[in-house]
Amino acid sequence: MNNLDIHIVGLGNLGSALLQGLINLDKNLTFHLYEKETKIIDFIKKQFELDPKTEIDVIENGVLVLCIKPKDLNLFIKTNKEKISEDVLICTVLAGVNTSYISKFINNKIIRLMPNLSIKDNNGFIPYTKNYEKDYLSFLEVLNGLGSISEYDEELFHIITSIYGSGPAWYLELSSKIVEAALELGLSKSESNKIVKELIKSLPALVNEEEFSDTVEKIKSPKGTTEAGINSLKHDSFDKIIFNAINSATERSMEISKEINNE
Ligand SMILES: NC(=O)c1ccc[n+]([C@@H]2O[C@H](COP(=O)([O-])OP(=O)(O)OC[C@H]3O[C@@H](n4cnc5c(N)ncnc54)[C@H](OP(=O)(O)O)[C@@H]3O)[C@@H](O)[C@H]2O)c1
Repeated sequence: MNNLDIHIVGLGNLGSALLQGLINLDKNLTFHLYEKETKIIDFIKKQFELDPKTEIDVIENGVLVLCIKPKDLNLFIKTNKEKISEDVLICTVLAGVNTSYISKFINNKIIRLMPNLSIKDNNGFIPYTKNYEKDYLSFLEVLNGLGSISEYDEELFHIITSIYGSGPAWYLELSSKIVEAALELGLSKSESNKIVKELIKSLPALVNEEEFSDTVEKIKSPKGTTEAGINSLKHDSFDKIIFNAINSATERSMEISKEINNE
């Protein structure tokens, strides 16, 4: 692959995870970084020995990856659209922001991703959608190194954002509540944390072609401990609790779309 300039704007949680994943690739990539927050700039300098700028000068080619919050997008576009050449591929990870919204201001090719923080270890999954044909600048090839990639209709991105972008939070929040329960039932905090972390690490071995509910059946035995817990979850409407959480996140993504259009 020819050398590719990668400009990343915003090096917070997602931007720095993406940078780590791209550095791990050891490909012919040149990084140009932009960040406003002093603490994050110091972290990037220390962690990656790279020096983020606070402002874009001019970007003539390569890929510009937007890792800022949706609320900062309009100001970013207003300040920078004249500095970005039409040859530059725009890559966005912003929740709730459609490619068509960005296209109102910039006439560039746009690819939209919804990764999660696992992108830093190059073994995640990257749902994407794009407004151009084929693989411009071999960027799909680069993304393929960050995880397995799959193209979706953009109208599915609200639900994909909810179950995949936010997804780790659902499992980690559940894990945090399991730790709290174990604590209340007499296990020490350090042992609870250790055991639940080991539990999470053991899960990939149980993820296979079968339905999740079928695997649960294999863990359950009649009148056993798992069945007692599952019955308690049913009694407390676990399905409704989870549906409401996923639905709230999906609706929030739709709201962000509307808010940004009305700004
Ligand atoms: N976190 C996740 O797990 C995740 C997963 C999927 C998608 N996303 C998406 O990723 C985006 C970033 O999320 P995040 O959690 O990484 O947010 P974050 O930690 O707040 O990082 C964004 C950073 O961008 C900086 N920034 C804002 N405007 C800038 C500009 N014009 N130039 C340079 N830097 C600028 C912010 O600085 P200031 O705070 O000083 O403004 C902030 O440090 C969001 O749109 C989110 O929807 C996140």
